[in-house]
Amino acid sequence: MENEVKLAAGAMVTLGLATAALVVLPYIQVRDVHPPEGLKPYTSAELRGRATYIANGCVYCHTQQPRDKSFGPDAERGWGRATVPGDYTYDRPHLLGSMRTGPDLMNIGVRQPSKDWHLGHLYQPRAYVPGSIMPAYPYLFDVKDKAEAGEETLKLPPGFTPPGKVVVPTPEALDLVKYLQSLNRSYPVLPPEPREAPGAAAAPAAKPAAAS
Ligand code: HEC
Repeated sequence: MENEVKLAAGAMVTLGLATAALVVLPYIQVRDVHPPEGLKPYTSAELRGRATYIANGCVYCHTQQPRDKSFGPDAERGWGRATVPGDYTYDRPHLLGSMRTGPDLMNIGVRQPSKDWHLGHLYQPRAYVPGSIMPAYPYLFDVKDKAEAGEETLKLPPGFTPPGKVVVPTPEALDLVKYLQSLNRSYPVLPPEPREAPGAAAAPAAKPAAAS
């Protein structure tokens, strides 16, 4: 019987420690996190685009977590500063990702703001990046003989539009591109360098005056 009690007690302690380390401590660390001033909530179109991003598995090849300079050259690659917890305030679920078959996308809206480029690249990545191993997403587009009134057509590099046809993005493709364009964590997050307290410079000048 004594052994069973020890076993049960050991299991409880192990579970308690694991819960403290993996649930309680992280919660305490991030519970007071506020969204940085520069971060805007997603619009409903961007949220629909985000759902398309999840549904198509973009997260399996693209991270959304540029690392600090001491961990890797992400900033030199143009992927932006290391993210902070507040950058993810509106990200539910977060799409941090763990594989980087393609580049980090946390700041793709800054590095590539062009809607035409994004649409064309989703339709056929090889049209813009020869040899790209990113899959094409042709089912996010309609290939038709002629665009209907109000529909926009893709402006692809020569040779990529099916002959005699036009390529029209579906609403999913348009929302996905809005989401990609919204990925911008380039606002500053650190408080500005502390400046000398006002009056600190004036203090020495004031002294002789007080002495006289
Ligand atoms: C099999 C892995 C893979 C998947 C899945 C994938 N990509 Fe990519 N992606 C890449 C690779 C590799 C590149 C770099 C070559 C290129 O630009 O085509 C890339 C490049 C990109 C770029 C340009 C990045 C830059 O810095 O220029 C964007 C934007 C992008 N992908 C978006 C997406 C979206 C949106 C999805 C989902 C619909 C997706 N990718 C799915 C592999 C992938």
